[in-house]
Amino acid sequence: MAEPVVVDAAYLKEVEKARRDLRALISSKNCAPIMLRLAWHDAGTYDVNTKTGGPNGSIRNEHELNHGANNGLKIAINFCEEVKAKHPKITYADLYQLAGVVAVEVTGGPTIDFVPGRKDSVESPEEGRLPDAKQGVPHLKDIFYRMGLSDKDIVALSGGHTLGKAHADRSGFDGPWTREPLKFDNSYFVELLKGESEGLLKLSTDNALLEDPAFRSYVELYAKDEDAFLKDYAESHKKLSELGFNPS
Ligand code: HEM
Repeated sequence: MAEPVVVDAAYLKEVEKARRDLRALISSKNCAPIMLRLAWHDAGTYDVNTKTGGPNGSIRNEHELNHGANNGLKIAINFCEEVKAKHPKITYADLYQLAGVVAVEVTGGPTIDFVPGRKDSVESPEEGRLPDAKQGVPHLKDIFYRMGLSDKDIVALSGGHTLGKAHADRSGFDGPWTREPLKFDNSYFVELLKGESEGLLKLSTDNALLEDPAFRSYVELYAKDEDAFLKDYAESHKKLSELGFNPS
C-alpha cells in the first residue's frame, strides 16, 4: 500500500523550494524537454477503467523504466534525484509532475496549476500503455480515451512536441518538431500544417492530427491562435498530471 501523503504547511513549503530548485536546474541544464517527457510518461499509463497507472512515480521502478517507450528517461530521473535528495519529503509522483509543470513554464509556456499530494506506487503497469509513434488515428484515440482524455486533450497535449527532439539511439526517430525546440509556443501546429519540412520530424501520430476532422479543427485553431493553444494546453496538462489523483 502507498503511504498516505500529508499536505500540510511544511509540505507546501518544500514544494515551493523544490520548484525553485527545478527552475534553476532545468534552465542551467536545458533539460526542459526530457523533464516534460518524464512527467508525461509517468502519467500517461493511466487506465480510467481499472484506475491503475497514472502519475504515481512508478516510472522510477527499474522494470518500468526499461519499457521501450521510456528509453533515455533515466537522464531525467537522475536530474529529479538531485532535487529529491534536497527535499526528501516530496513524493516522486509530485516531483515528476512538478518538473513537467516547471519545464513548460521556464520555456515560455503557460502557468499550469499544480496541486500536490500524489502517492508513490511501487507497482508498475504492464508495458504497452503509452502511444506507439508508428500508428494512426484509431490508436491515438484508444490510448488517450483509456486515460479518460478527449480529442481536444489529444491535440493540445501533442503540442508538447513544441519542445525537444527525437534521438535515434532512444526511439529510433531523429530530429526536432520545430525550429526552436527550447521555446514553448504554437510552432508545432504551424509546422504540422505546412507539411514536410527540411530537418523537422513528423511522426505518424503527429500527422494523424491532420486526418481526423475533430483533431484537425483544433490543429487549425492552435496554429492561428497561440493564446487558445496555451490556455487549452494548460488545462489538458493539468488533467494529465492529475489522472487518478483526488486531492483531499
Ligand atoms: C519525444 C512519441 C505525446 C512530450 C518523443 C519521442 C517520441 C514521442 C517517439 C522521441 C523520444 C526520443 O527519441 O528521445 C510520442 C507519441 C505521442 C506523444 C507517439 C502521442 C501523442 C507526447 C505528449 C507530450 C510529449 C502528450 C507532453 C505533453 C514529448 C517531449 C519530447 C518527446 C517534450 C522530447 C524529449 C527530448 O527532447 O528529450 N515523443 N509522444 N509527447 N515527447 Fe512525445
